[in-house]
Amino acid sequence: MKISDLWLAGFLFLFSIPTNASTLNFTSNAELDAALRQRISQLSLTGDPLSPRSLPSINTTKAQLGKLLFFSKIQSGNFDTACVSCHHPMLGGADALSIAIGVDTLNPNLLGPGREHRSTAPFYDGGPTMPRNVPTSFNLGFWDKHIFHDGRVEALLPLPFQHGAIGGISTPDSGKDLPDPDAGNNLSTAQAAFPQITLEEMRGFTFAEGLSNQETRERVAARMRGELEPLALNQWPALFRETFNLPDVPLNEVITPAAIREVLAEYMRSQVFVDNPWFDYVQGNTLALTPQEKRGAFKFLSRENVGGFNCQNCHSGNLMTDEGFHNLAMPQLGRGKGDSYTRTNDFGRYRETYRFNDLFAFRTPSLLNVEVTGPYGHAGAYGTLEDTIRHHMNPTVAIARYQYDGTQPSVQQSDMQNNSQEAINILFVQQIVGVSKLNNHAYNEEDIQDLAAFLRTLTDPCVKDRQCMAPWLVDNDIDPDGLRIEAVDINLQPL
Ligand code: HEC
Ligand code: HEC
Repeated sequence: MKISDLWLAGFLFLFSIPTNASTLNFTSNAELDAALRQRISQLSLTGDPLSPRSLPSINTTKAQLGKLLFFSKIQSGNFDTACVSCHHPMLGGADALSIAIGVDTLNPNLLGPGREHRSTAPFYDGGPTMPRNVPTSFNLGFWDKHIFHDGRVEALLPLPFQHGAIGGISTPDSGKDLPDPDAGNNLSTAQAAFPQITLEEMRGFTFAEGLSNQETRERVAARMRGELEPLALNQWPALFRETFNLPDVPLNEVITPAAIREVLAEYMRSQVFVDNPWFDYVQGNTLALTPQEKRGAFKFLSRENVGGFNCQNCHSGNLMTDEGFHNLAMPQLGRGKGDSYTRTNDFGRYRETYRFNDLFAFRTPSLLNVEVTGPYGHAGAYGTLEDTIRHHMNPTVAIARYQYDGTQPSVQQSDMQNNSQEAINILFVQQIVGVSKLNNHAYNEEDIQDLAAFLRTLTDPCVKDRQCMAPWLVDNDIDPDGLRIEAVDINLQPL
């Protein structure tokens, strides 16, 4: 296996010698603008992902209640993890780690770099116990087809602007292609009931042992109703009654798994951060971008024959994703999903479909606010946008040269080359038989800088401004159970 891998790697290297280089021939800024505007209109980009979609404001009572719950450890088996432990609004709706760290940490309040497991934790091996990088919760309500890196929460009738609200949703509970009757009204509600039942994420290894997913959720709801262990403080019953306007019915009809997933989803759906310079430009403000950013935009959107890199072939539309799955052979760090001979690989979408085309394929991420959502890739292998872009240009070369330079030195790396090489080999075949949309490119440093500059125009300034983010934070809110994550960074400074 190893010998043939090496042989194949050398063979692939030869084949991956790039075939085209980028040269833009615009003589003036005006010419660049004209070409870019033409491409924008060809691609029917509107710069307005919102309309005709309807998403809640953070000021709705359900989003506000969801926020309080999002920050509380009450949903985790051992009272040590909250949603916000891995999806903090000041960390780009994620955790700034390559691979997530959930239960059994040294300091549950410490988020981002420096967050580590206790050495006495079950399954401790020094590195993170979770398998993948955290996708942002920002702009969650814009997805219409798939949630999770492997799309295992899926709209059965994926209609534009519907966020899975029509036609049912399949989840790991129902199995692929079957509607989950408990999934709720949209992809966000469908997703929001899975972290609590996942052992290494929130549940811990002893809570509700032996119980089914739905029974475990009932257990969490019962705890919030005050029916399990005694809680020193518990305002959830009053808050849920008020929010759902149910003053008189029995409490077990008020705090239910369905209500819990609904309020969490409303909070996440209210995280709409789409006010960025790029959309400004698309909507007509030619001064919204610098010349370099415009070059980057042109290269991102255009085909190779005019000097582009055709990124939009996968990162398409206003959300900058086709919501499809592609094998990019991004470096496979961490303990993976237990796949392949190393038992630390991650087959990605293939785990759901068992189709060859989906081997090592992961969902195309949205690139909105990508500047603040790093590290990048499903295993958080790259710390910078520039390195992530270089990887796209030639994965074989990138893997051969790869060195982890991120902020989570404890992440497991010993199987990285073997695992990633396997994905490279499969990618090679996928390219030959024509099921891959990834082309190798020659490039120069200016290309990388231009593309990265363009990606930074996708940042809504709000997400970098703590004051602007205040409505999504809990600074001025009650702590209903005294179980709030008081988030701090590695220097113990409040986030
Ligand atoms: C231990 C860290 C951790 C905690 C705690 C956590 N998540 Fe996540 N979350 C992740 C990881 C990792 C993924 C990606 C999993 C995958 O794709 O296989 C994820 C995925 C998601 C997604 C999918 C986003 C997308 O674009 O596909 C949403 C939404 C989400 N989490 C919401 C929540 C909510 C709500 C909670 C609390 C109930 C929560 N998370 C708790 C780590 C965490
Ligand atoms: C073949 C489809 C495809 C093309 C073409 C493509 N991407 Fe990607 N891109 C993806 C997928 C899939 C991922 C996630 C891969 C993973 O997680 O393993 C990704 C990840 C990224 C990320 C990291 C985002 C994150 O949140 O982790 C960035 C940045 C990015 N792409 C930018 C670009 C740029 C710039 C181009 C053009 C040079 C481009 N992409 C072309 C499919 C594509």
